[in-house]
Amino acid sequence: MKSIKDINFKGRKVLLRVDFNVPMDENKHITDDTRIRESLPTINKLLADGAAIIIMAHFGRPKKGGFEPELTLEPEARHLESLIARPVCFTQALLGSGEPERMAASLTDGQVMLLENIRFYPEETKGDEALAERLAKLGDCYINDAFGAAHREHSSTAVIARFFPNDKYFGFLMENEVRNLEKLMQNPPHPFTAIIGGSKVSSKIGILENLIDKVDNMVIIGGMRYTFTKALGGKIGNSICEDDKLDLARDLMRRMDEKGVRYYLPVDSVIGDKFANDANTQVVPSGQVPDGWESMDCGPESCKAIRDIVMGSKTILWNGPAGVFELSTFAKGTREIATYVAEACAAGCFAAVGGGDSVAAVKQMGLADKMSYVSTGGGAMLEYLEGKELPGIKAIKD
Ligand code: 3PG
Repeated sequence: MKSIKDINFKGRKVLLRVDFNVPMDENKHITDDTRIRESLPTINKLLADGAAIIIMAHFGRPKKGGFEPELTLEPEARHLESLIARPVCFTQALLGSGEPERMAASLTDGQVMLLENIRFYPEETKGDEALAERLAKLGDCYINDAFGAAHREHSSTAVIARFFPNDKYFGFLMENEVRNLEKLMQNPPHPFTAIIGGSKVSSKIGILENLIDKVDNMVIIGGMRYTFTKALGGKIGNSICEDDKLDLARDLMRRMDEKGVRYYLPVDSVIGDKFANDANTQVVPSGQVPDGWESMDCGPESCKAIRDIVMGSKTILWNGPAGVFELSTFAKGTREIATYVAEACAAGCFAAVGGGDSVAAVKQMGLADKMSYVSTGGGAMLEYLEGKELPGIKAIKD
């Protein structure tokens, strides 16, 4: 793997692709700057070397083609300024106007520039080579630190690397993600437990299938578990279920049995009579959910059992919440699991956490730094775990 650690970028003009696609509130305030902070080791290394940095990033999914004020990267530019305590050159003007080109050309060592949202160019998401070439001309080497966008074969995430066959690198964030994911999927200490949750089986089929050959234990939580419970003949009331995936659930369980993978479905459930924090709740055995009630979290017996599995593991992959984490009434199971995984890490287990709500739980509870590794990638991590080769990684490795 090519690392920037041993290279001095003094006097170079580095094109750096990052993922600054961060959550923002309606007032354009960044509500979670993790992705920006996680790119600082690379940015600070380049600045310490004495390089000039031209940063490329996207925000949201612009549709119109061209500038859209609500998707500007200006808030990210100002936020980055405060984090690195130096100015970040930024213009909302797009390539072709001459302004970003001039700004990039006059950038001197130790200066940082952020290009406006790279997805304002409709060619970007098509992986257009001409756009990649225009971007490449702004600098003299390329670093990809955008793990969150590594599953996209876009001009700035993959295609641009072709213009720097001998001068393309992973940034520190990317390197860290790849190292940890490779450890997880290629060389995990056993027993290896996957805890997979989220609302739909359909979004996790690829991961479940890929993990069957790798894990010892599969803990299936979240809304997706009710499809399994129903497939086993359980009564799930109004709980979320994909009826067209019942056969798939049966097939997955059969294959896990065949491979000797111990799968665990929570034995009890916290159910509510409406999808709201002020719902009436009760704990019932999973598979005995009365009509009119919806199961929305793991119950206490399940939490105990999951804790035992977690504490007996040497490797853990946790992706997806145990229940309706966005409602505090039904967040307990997810929060408990975060605590167990942290405990397991303290006891020497290697645990990787990815996926929106599981990461949110770990962060909310102040446990992120107790995990071996928390991924900055959503879709990128999922695709990696499905066994796919990510174009952003491949472009650097090739
Ligand atoms: C993400 O937030 O997962 C990445 O930034 C990728 O965004 P995308 O799904 O819009 O490509």
